[in-house]
Amino acid sequence: MGGKAYSLEPLPISPVQTKYRKMGDRFPVPESIPLLEQLRVYEPVSMSGQPPVVWAKAKGFQVSDHWGNTWLDWSSGVLVASAGHGRPEILKAIKAQAEKEMIHNYCFPSQIRTELSRKLVDLAPPEMDKAFILTTGSETTENAIKLSKAHGHKVGGPDKDVFITFDGAFHGRTLGSQLAGGSPALKAWIGKLDPSFVQVPFPGDFRVKDKSFGFFEKALADKGIKPENVCGVMTETYQGGIAAFLPVDYAQALRKWCDKYDILLIMDEVQAGFGRTGRMFGFEHYGIVPDLACFGKGISSSLPISAVIGRSKFMDAFEPGSMTSTHTGNPVCCAAAMASLDIVVKEDLPGQAATKGEILMNALSRIADAHPDNVLALNGKGMVAAVQVGSGGRLDGNLAWEIVRNCIVRGLLMFSPVGPEGASVKISPPIITPEDALEEGLQVLDEAFATALDS
Ligand SMILES: Cc1ncc(COP(=O)(O)O)c(C=O)c1O
Repeated sequence: MGGKAYSLEPLPISPVQTKYRKMGDRFPVPESIPLLEQLRVYEPVSMSGQPPVVWAKAKGFQVSDHWGNTWLDWSSGVLVASAGHGRPEILKAIKAQAEKEMIHNYCFPSQIRTELSRKLVDLAPPEMDKAFILTTGSETTENAIKLSKAHGHKVGGPDKDVFITFDGAFHGRTLGSQLAGGSPALKAWIGKLDPSFVQVPFPGDFRVKDKSFGFFEKALADKGIKPENVCGVMTETYQGGIAAFLPVDYAQALRKWCDKYDILLIMDEVQAGFGRTGRMFGFEHYGIVPDLACFGKGISSSLPISAVIGRSKFMDAFEPGSMTSTHTGNPVCCAAAMASLDIVVKEDLPGQAATKGEILMNALSRIADAHPDNVLALNGKGMVAAVQVGSGGRLDGNLAWEIVRNCIVRGLLMFSPVGPEGASVKISPPIITPEDALEEGLQVLDEAFATALDS
């Protein structure tokens, strides 16, 4: 969520030199200040929300600047680099595609887009038999809204139009995806909201006490919404800001409810897809198959590419030419995605995430146990987790900010705190991070918590 810019005043820090990290004696790095200042001149303020670490090279699970500092990366560049940064296989595929002198083809057919759509469909459950390739995650959630409304209107007329999402959800920053988002502050700029977008409490939030599916139905009834008028329900497979999942029985009841009323169920897997949670797809944890799923980030571990995968019954709603995008299936991005998905399968990234996730969650539980008054919730699965911090039972974004800063100055790269009140310390290392590097990062996090809380 961000909310404040980092200071550009270099302050003294303790130098670090370990197997995986190297830090000088001041942060931000003094030599980086002119570049950071220029960015603040030429870019909108909104772009200054991440820690002032100038990326010069990102390789595997490490990020280095131009001045000899190296961080262990626990951001994966916001959950993109699942297979690792700058993988040689992906670089090779990008170069090979470029050398074919075919780097753009709009929606004209191409071999590489054919291969990637087939690959995405092959990886997905058999019911999900079509893939629509796009560029960003927001485009996929926008597309899910479009397909839900189209289906609703077709089977139920103009009143079957309500699109349900969850409080606290994040589905992107474009108009439709923000209408579907569940943080009122993020959509204050919209002004008059569209009443067909409705949010209900998210059962994975520690502050929501009733976690039964009955509470979902009650929330809708309280808002005067009839199931017959709902066209779609979309949820992040795990809510990104807090890394929290739905209860399994809730997700299964939701699936049945959607079937009963001819409503599309959409899983936003933009963060969860392709191994991150310890399964190929995060929705496998629920034992359900959605009608549509949205993917982005980890598809390519690198270049911008995203996809909606779903049932042809819904995916085929629009006539030729009326559901497209200029950069649909850019060939270089497709090549990167093909190479990355090969790694996901060959190196069993879902299995790796499940195994390393146990190490991660065990260590995080120990940190939580050491600070019972300040760790208000700990959630995660596989190689993603979030620790929500605060005091007196209230979330505290400043505390999360301090913990993240404590990590960064020690050479552990995190992105800015997220989630409600910006109070989540989010952990998402590249899945290929070796175990000893993961342990090293966990030690740093332990120190970062202790420094913030034990003084
Ligand atoms: C769950 C989820 N959905 C959608 C998006 C939007 O993706 P993008 O930033 O690529 O538009 C994000 C991005 O963080 C996300 O985490």
